[in-house]
Amino acid sequence: MRKMKQLLTFGLSFGIITSVLADEGMWLPFLIGEKTYQDMVKKGLKLTKEQIFSANKSSLKDAVIIFGGGCTGEIVSNKGLIFTNHHCGYDAIAKVSTVEHNYLKNGFWAKNLNEEIHVPGLTVQFLERIKDVTDKVNNELKNVDALKTLSELPKILNRLAQQELSEDEKKTNCEARIVPMFSGNQYILFVYKRYKDVRLVGTPSESLGKFGGDTDNWEWPRHTADFSIFRIYADKNGQPADYSPDNIPLTPKYVIPVNIKGIKENSYAMTMGFPGGTNRFETSYGVELKTSIENPSTVELRDIRLKNMMEEMKKSEAVKLKLASYYARVANYWKFFDGENKQLLKYKVYEQKKNDEQKFIEWAKQNNKTEYINLMQEFEQCFNNWKPYSKARIYFQEGILGSQLFSYTYRLLSLLQLSKEDITKNKTQYLEQVKELNKEIDLPSDQKNTAVLLKKYKDDIDAQFVPSNVYDKISKDISMTSNDQSSLTAYQNFVNDLYKNTILLKPSEFEKWLENPDKSVLEKDPAFSVLNAFYQIVSTKILPEYNKFQNCNFLLQQKYQKGLIEMYKGKKEFYPDANFTMRLSYGVVKPYSPKDAVFYKEICTIKGVLEKYKPGDYEFDLPKDFVETATKKDFGNYADKSINDIVVTYITTNDITGGNSGSPVLNGKGELIGLAFDGNYEALSHKIHFDAQYNRTICVDIRYVLWIIEKIGKADNLIKELKIVA
Ligand code: ARG
Repeated sequence: MRKMKQLLTFGLSFGIITSVLADEGMWLPFLIGEKTYQDMVKKGLKLTKEQIFSANKSSLKDAVIIFGGGCTGEIVSNKGLIFTNHHCGYDAIAKVSTVEHNYLKNGFWAKNLNEEIHVPGLTVQFLERIKDVTDKVNNELKNVDALKTLSELPKILNRLAQQELSEDEKKTNCEARIVPMFSGNQYILFVYKRYKDVRLVGTPSESLGKFGGDTDNWEWPRHTADFSIFRIYADKNGQPADYSPDNIPLTPKYVIPVNIKGIKENSYAMTMGFPGGTNRFETSYGVELKTSIENPSTVELRDIRLKNMMEEMKKSEAVKLKLASYYARVANYWKFFDGENKQLLKYKVYEQKKNDEQKFIEWAKQNNKTEYINLMQEFEQCFNNWKPYSKARIYFQEGILGSQLFSYTYRLLSLLQLSKEDITKNKTQYLEQVKELNKEIDLPSDQKNTAVLLKKYKDDIDAQFVPSNVYDKISKDISMTSNDQSSLTAYQNFVNDLYKNTILLKPSEFEKWLENPDKSVLEKDPAFSVLNAFYQIVSTKILPEYNKFQNCNFLLQQKYQKGLIEMYKGKKEFYPDANFTMRLSYGVVKPYSPKDAVFYKEICTIKGVLEKYKPGDYEFDLPKDFVETATKKDFGNYADKSINDIVVTYITTNDITGGNSGSPVLNGKGELIGLAFDGNYEALSHKIHFDAQYNRTICVDIRYVLWIIEKIGKADNLIKELKIVA
């Protein structure tokens, strides 16, 4: 309890509360203010705060896990069964699939524990405990030069975090991470327990789990069965263990019951999960940089990569499997950044921010808060210093490193610096990486991408950031030609040679090289020399400026957020920006009107799935058995009787973002009514600005999930494991 008290003290000193904007807020579940809690109760919550998050008893939070590297999942049976999104399981499903056993394409349903498939590398994490360590961190930061805050911070946080782990925690695979809140106005320690034996239990075919593909991604109305099922295995003491056939299903601390009574408009909906990142305190300067440079560049460069990949994926099932997960990742945020830009401009977020900033400065002046009076000029200076470099950074990140070969080369670049001994010591790790590259790379599309991206970098980026040694060779060929097409040909020839000759695409040669690592070989290698030339520029001209910028923005944000909290003391409750720590958000099921004359209902049904069905289509095809069962209206226990159909998805007013994917959607009693899986297009500006009118969370209805498990997967064994409330 003491820990909780420390945290609450902070909350109070930051002047928690009153009038919170409608359903905005990603609340730390151990720091829910009284006003917010009362609002939750008013909307339909029946649980106490202690039932949601308890420091020493089992509570809801014990059933909410980090799934893989960036998603959420929830525990739904006393044998460690997990529900998460299909797009969260996507990488794992693709990884265990082959053209012969293509689970991504055909789905997979284990009928008993023996059929479950271990996924190498897949882990889940439980949140064990939290603690406010602000004083400890500040005590260390006291001695750090302000200009070095951000470069020193990770080391300090990591060192302090390790000190906080108990002997018991160290023995049971726990990890400690300290995370800044409110840009370093507060620091909280999170201890997680990581389980390493996670197995695939069930998934619908991709045609259902990703129904609508990228066309429907980030959109409502939506008809996607975005769920997949995994199980956690542990040693016989219930502790994390590497994969072993002797491991047994985990007995969890808490299991979320499943409620199939259904939702309607205004039903209470609560999510708990791990939103990855927001910038709700972003300034007008940040919005301007994003909309004018960062987002348009990112979208343009991703567009090129995606087109080339799709061309190859459509030709072959093997290539499709190989690239599926990588493609989905790139495409997801390609559409996101494009939409974000459109909505930021449409909602005039820049102008709104300017307005907020002006109000803040006026408040500071009126109240004689001298430390804040020049804050906006300081922000302006910080952004102006950085702006000339920002496009080159994006082009390096999204362009040069958008080549699969180059991104691996970049990660291996340290081989040029390391001693023979150091290389030999870690040779298995290097070999692993090269093997992975050769497994993941699709040569035809990657070669095309690399040529176009290299050319684009040269065409669009200021000469001071262009490594002339790389381009000299290509330009010799170009100077003899005149038009754009023949200049592209020169790039293609250069790239073809490079791919033919680099040792990174010859794993057995690389393995031999590792036996006696002679660096002159790598120095002459075409991939290494191109990336090394870029690295020289990036590390001397761009990164130092970027670090300076990040540091000043962090410190100015720290001041700004402190000031805002002061300014709204007693009027408004604040939550820290999302940072992949556990958050709770709540709202209600609610329709919306996206534009004049258009009204979107709050639910989608199977009728709509069949309406979108396009046999043979890449995104809108459906499995035969699905069409048959759906057409027969064989709905089992899962229909909404009032419409004689199944509700497949619904929308709520919850505040979530990427990382929340797979989050349990809970009713007022904390029972599972769905899985959150997306946000709507009209609210794609949500990372920077929450719009109460348009923001919606898209959820797959739990009844649709169970219907697919039972009627399509015929996996009654899984239904029997659940605690169903009917
Ligand atoms: N937009 C969703 C998210 O970021 C991912 C949806 C995956 N589906 C897809 N068609 N790419 O959580």
